[in-house]
Amino acid sequence: MRNVAKLSDLPDTEPVRVDVDGVPVCLVRLGEQVKAVHDTCSHQQWSLADDGMVWGNGVECSLHGSTFDLDSGEPASLPANQPIPTFAVQIDGDEVNVDVSAATNDAPFPDH
Ligand code: FES
Repeated sequence: MRNVAKLSDLPDTEPVRVDVDGVPVCLVRLGEQVKAVHDTCSHQQWSLADDGMVWGNGVECSLHGSTFDLDSGEPASLPANQPIPTFAVQIDGDEVNVDVSAATNDAPFPDH
């Protein structure tokens, strides 16, 4: 687990990109919970945090509109048809910790 952010610094329902040991991670705060997924869209490698929109438990890629579930990493809509890696999150007080050593959903990491 790496400390990646302060909960109080994260805007609610707005994706934020952080770099964790060289892995781009998209953090999404949902109230007192934080979800963490790989920031790279599985369609054409766009950053999900770059103008991405949060809908319920999903984040929508701003380039072509695929929405990924923040727990399963699965795309709910085309054109993406492959999941993105999801990561374990632990909140300790105001500290947000993420483990990028392995995807919790076994999705492959993008090549770049
Ligand atoms: S790059 Fe994300 S949907 Fe196309």
